[in-house]
Amino acid sequence: MTDFNIIRVARTVLNVKDLDRSRKFYVDALGFIETERTDEAIYLRGLEEHTHHSLVLKKSEQYSVHALGYKVASNEDLDRLQALFQSKGLKTKWMEEGTQHALGRALLVHDISGMPLEFFCKMDAAERMLQRYDLYKGARIQRIDHVNCSVPDVEKAYSFFVNELGFACSEYTATDQDRIWAAWLHRKQTVHDQAFMNGEGPCLHHIGFWLPDPMAIIHCCDVLASLGYAASIERGPGRHGLSNAFFLYLRDPDGYRIELYSGDYLTSDPDFKPIRWDLNDPRRQTFWGTKAPDSWFNETAPFLDIETGDPVGTAPPTLEQKKPEFII
Ligand SMILES: [Fe+2]
Repeated sequence: MTDFNIIRVARTVLNVKDLDRSRKFYVDALGFIETERTDEAIYLRGLEEHTHHSLVLKKSEQYSVHALGYKVASNEDLDRLQALFQSKGLKTKWMEEGTQHALGRALLVHDISGMPLEFFCKMDAAERMLQRYDLYKGARIQRIDHVNCSVPDVEKAYSFFVNELGFACSEYTATDQDRIWAAWLHRKQTVHDQAFMNGEGPCLHHIGFWLPDPMAIIHCCDVLASLGYAASIERGPGRHGLSNAFFLYLRDPDGYRIELYSGDYLTSDPDFKPIRWDLNDPRRQTFWGTKAPDSWFNETAPFLDIETGDPVGTAPPTLEQKKPEFII
């Protein structure tokens, strides 16, 4: 048991080169709600989100990802989290209320893999648009669902998130020697908030957004094609074996990977047993057997250091790398 309560992954902040170009993709094609726009950033949310944003696009020439944002239950949780990270000798930094737009006090840290994380409990409210069906368009994005990162030592990341941060494992991929190759970990009661895959890192592989149903994904493919974004479709649509979700992977105008995701399952029960997938079972990636393109395995986005703002250094994976199709 931890003495703090992490609720869920709640926001991500990406640097983008051209705010107008990004707005066309995220708002006009994917159907995000634009809560606010400044000269420096666009703040986006899904239709069911009652908070100011779940995605921030910041104007910058540097292709990189800021700390991944997790919501916690209380202000005291932030202090307890700082104590934990400091006790492990990991970097922490406070962002006082008002420093970041629409956000209360936040704790920035680097985790055991060097990945930047942000914890906060307060964000400005926004109108929930779930029943504004007149505003539904594109992929009918409902909410942020998860982040997926490649890290050089998945077992170390797994152990830190499960034993120190209180996450539970829903599914994992294991090698013939029973080493954990990839893991899907959750705080909210779905398959995951945070996934880790074996690879060069720490790097962001993708951000997953929840959609109401598979038809929203099919419709989104039509809209993307109509608007000239057909080349943005990287993988899918398809059905994951792992998580059972219906999916589509896109590359946004800067190259960040976005997953449209729908239809995983409840993981609330304490006696839920993590589901093991064999690394040699191709159905775990795509239940129907369709192969993913090389870019999906080879391309990720760098994180930024919470103190220097420079890209976080990466390391090669500790487990032997196999053929590309076996990366997750
Ligand atoms: Fe995903």
